Amino acid sequence: MAKADIVTGLDIGTHSIKALVAQRNGNDWEVLSYAEIPSFGLRKGAVVSVEETAKNVQMIISGIEKDCNRKINSVFVNIGGNHLYVTPSDGIISVSRADQRISKEDVERVLQATRAINISRNDEVLDVIPREFIIDDQKGIKQPEDLTGVRLEAKVLLLCVFSPYFIKLTQAVLAAKLQINDVIPSPLAAANAVLTPQQKELGVALIDIGAATTSLAVFEEGELMHLAVFPIGSANITNDIAIGLKTDVAIAESIKKQHGTCMSSKTEKGLDQSKKRIEVFDKSDSLSFTKKNLVDIIEPRVSEILDLVQKELKKINRQELLPGGVVLTGGGAKIPKIKELVRETLNLSCEIGRPKGIIGLQEDPALATVAGLALEGVDSGSKDGILGLTKGWGSGFRKWIRNFIP
Ligand SMILES: Nc1ncnc2c1ncn2[C@@H]1O[C@H](COP(=O)(O)OP(=O)(O)OP(=O)(O)O)[C@@H](O)[C@H]1O
Ligand SMILES: [Mg+2]
Repeated sequence: MAKADIVTGLDIGTHSIKALVAQRNGNDWEVLSYAEIPSFGLRKGAVVSVEETAKNVQMIISGIEKDCNRKINSVFVNIGGNHLYVTPSDGIISVSRADQRISKEDVERVLQATRAINISRNDEVLDVIPREFIIDDQKGIKQPEDLTGVRLEAKVLLLCVFSPYFIKLTQAVLAAKLQINDVIPSPLAAANAVLTPQQKELGVALIDIGAATTSLAVFEEGELMHLAVFPIGSANITNDIAIGLKTDVAIAESIKKQHGTCMSSKTEKGLDQSKKRIEVFDKSDSLSFTKKNLVDIIEPRVSEILDLVQKELKKINRQELLPGGVVLTGGGAKIPKIKELVRETLNLSCEIGRPKGIIGLQEDPALATVAGLALEGVDSGSKDGILGLTKGWGSGFRKWIRNFIP
C-alpha cells in the first residue's frame, strides 16, 4: 500500500470541532491546514444529534478542502464522553502447534478469548489492550510470539463504549461523506501527541480538561493501565461564574479567559493583589469583582475535578505514585495556576502538554487531541481514503462497524 502524503485528524468536541490536515515533507510532517468551528449536536462529549454533527463536520471539512485545495477522503476521529470505560479481563488457550511454538494466530486467539466477558448488552468492546502474557507459569511476558509453551494466557484491558453513542458518531462522520480510518478515544489521542515514551514507561496520568468532560488516561510500563471520563469540564466553570457574578454565560466565558485563575497570587513585594477590583463593561451593564471572588468560584470546581481524578488513582493504587507525574491538556488546562493546584492536590509533578510532532502547529494544549489523531495516521501509514481500522480490533468489531458504512 502506498504511504499517505496527507493525514486528517478530526476532533469532535462539545465546545468545538477541530480539523487538522498534516502533510508529509521528507521524514517530517507539517500543517497543511487547520480549522476550528463551534460545535452543536453533542452533549457531555457524546454525539446526540447525528444531523447537527454531520452538518458541522461537512462545514469544517469543506473549509479546509478549500484552504488546502485537496479533497479529504478519510479521517481519524475521536470518541469522547463518560460512556467510555475500561475493564480488566483475561483469556486462556492451548498453544496449537505440535512443536509448541506460539504463532501469531495463537496470540490473536487468546486476545479474542478475553472478549468473552459479560459487559452490558448496549456496550461494545472498542479495543483490547494487552497488559501481560503468561506462558505456562511464566509471567510478565510482553511479546509471546515465537516463544514456546503449552498454555497461553493474556491479561488485558477491554476498552468499551456505549454502542448507541458510537453508532451516532460514525453515522455523523459517514453522513458528511468521509471514510473513517480509525476511531480513537479522546484521551488516548491527546496522549499520543504530548506524552514521551519515558513518561509512559515510568507511570504518568494524562488529564484532558475539555468543555464538558474531563478525561483521565494512566500509562505504566509503556501501556494504558486505566481510563475514565467525568462529565465535568471548563464550561462548568463558566456556568459557575455566570451564577456567582450574576451575569450571562458569554460574559462569564470572557471573564474566565481574561481574568480567571484557580489560586491567588501575591506580587513580588508580598502585596495581596487578589483584592484589587476589576471592572467589566458590557452594553449597559457594568460588573465589578476581585480576583479573590473569581478564585472562590473557580478553585472549588477545579478541585472537584481533581478529587474525581484522585479517586480513580486510588482505585488503581497509584495515588501519589506516578513518577512521570501529570500532563494536562484540553482548553481547561489554560487556566492560570492550574499546575500549582494539581501539584498541591494530587501531590504529583505537573506540566502542560503541548502537542509535538507536527511542524507549524501551535503548541496549544487544546490542540492535543486533534494533533494525536493526525499522528495516529502518520504512525499507521494508512492511505487517505482507505478504511484502515488500524489497531488491534477483532474481526467481530470490524464487521460491526462495517454495518454502518453505506
Ligand atoms: N484560558 C482559559 N481558561 C479556562 N478555560 C479555557 C481557557 N481557554 C479555553 N478554555 C475553555 O476550554 C474549553 C474548550 O476546550 P476544548 O477545546 O478542549 O473542549 P472540547 O474538546 O470541545 O470539549 P470536550 O472535550 O469536553 O468534548 C471551553 O470550555 C473554554 O472555555
Ligand atoms: Mg475534547
